[in-house]
Amino acid sequence: MKISTDSRGEIIDLPPLPSTLNPFPEYDKLRGKGPVVRIRNPVGTEIYLITRWAEAVEALGHPHIAKGFEHLQYALKAQGRSGPGAGTPIGGTVAGNLLNTDPPDHTRLRSLVILAFTPRRLEQLRASVEQLVDSLIDRMRTGAEADLIADFAYPIGITTICMMLGVPEEDRLHFRQQAESVMTPGHPDQEKSLALLQTYIAKLIDAKREALVEGASPDEQTDLLSALIAARDSSNALTTDELRSMSYLLLIAGHETTVGLIGNALLHLMLNPDQRQLLVDDPSLIKNAIEETLRYDGSVPYTTFRATSADVTIGGTEIPHGSFVQIVLPALNRDPERFDDPNRFDIRRQIRQHMAFGHGVHFCLGSHLARLEAQTAVGRLVQAFPKAELNCKPEDVPWLGTVIRGARSLPVRLNEP
Ligand code: HEM
Repeated sequence: MKISTDSRGEIIDLPPLPSTLNPFPEYDKLRGKGPVVRIRNPVGTEIYLITRWAEAVEALGHPHIAKGFEHLQYALKAQGRSGPGAGTPIGGTVAGNLLNTDPPDHTRLRSLVILAFTPRRLEQLRASVEQLVDSLIDRMRTGAEADLIADFAYPIGITTICMMLGVPEEDRLHFRQQAESVMTPGHPDQEKSLALLQTYIAKLIDAKREALVEGASPDEQTDLLSALIAARDSSNALTTDELRSMSYLLLIAGHETTVGLIGNALLHLMLNPDQRQLLVDDPSLIKNAIEETLRYDGSVPYTTFRATSADVTIGGTEIPHGSFVQIVLPALNRDPERFDDPNRFDIRRQIRQHMAFGHGVHFCLGSHLARLEAQTAVGRLVQAFPKAELNCKPEDVPWLGTVIRGARSLPVRLNEP
């Protein structure tokens, strides 16, 4: 870390945080530097990083630490730059969805999506997720080795979100390829894939709208996109652009995150065989095991990008209007002020709250779905292959880039009992 000073005080030139098995010492170093740390990231953007639990709660509830596109643009201009580049592929480049609006727009949009995200719809998915998980496990039984991402976590994440939204089966491969390049920082096809995905979503919405006009009620169709289209058309409650943008957000936010979580849980259970044995002996520990994975190694490191819409003070640090603020979720979840022995993976830990799904008005809308998928997938896999082990050194597990924290592949020997 190179530290320099300017008129606003100290600034750290921060290289990309390592995508490795254990990047957490780097987070500890940042937390050790103070509750709010001013950094310059590798593309030259200046950001105030928040790495401690108490200040994060303050920041995530602060009315002047905003997510609105206009505030992010203002902050970018304040740094003499332009374009959407400082945002994230999930929220920063498309206007008018939950992740880049503030109340009151955010409140209106969220209340609509929540209406479509009913417990009933989730319950309807449960049986399909169980079936899918079992069929993938059966398929793996035919071999001695597998890749727990490609053969298990990924198909679960992508199929579930596509089922929920109503993406037809024949389109899923295309969707997956584009989503992958959108989510890979620096991917040469990132812009092209973003455009392709947006066109695809617009067409999908048109097709679903036609089906609705032809008489199928959204309830009969049971998919979330149809429910949103019905909300759009019956009460003019959201604009067509908002509908497209929201659908895009749900598709993107709803799959890689869960894949990452399933992979991280399986990896840490394999690396901690005593913990895995506890789960094998007492399957009811699965809920706790997933919460502990979310705390210990959740799959969203950096989505919480924001900008100040006025001068604010957090943890004694003044942050001027028009500054970028980023809350580093993995650092909060290992804050020793909040968690005893935070670097220990302990599936019996009693966790009152963690930050893996964020906090405040933007708290993850898909948390119930993510939990349903992860509990089903990890619980059943551990019972089916209680002795599976990594087929490479833990430090050789390849990790995705910085948008999602998750293994790119998890080669294992299944060691079927
Ligand atoms: C928001 C994490 C799964 C949809 C968020 C945020 C986090 C997060 C940290 C807050 C971002 C911020 O404050 O800036 C995760 C993790 C997941 C997961 C760790 C899986 C393990 C899902 C799924 C869906 C989803 C499955 C959809 C089906 C959303 C949406 C928002 C959101 C729509 C925006 C909510 C708002 O701004 O009001 N998620 N997520 N997420 N997530 Fe998730």
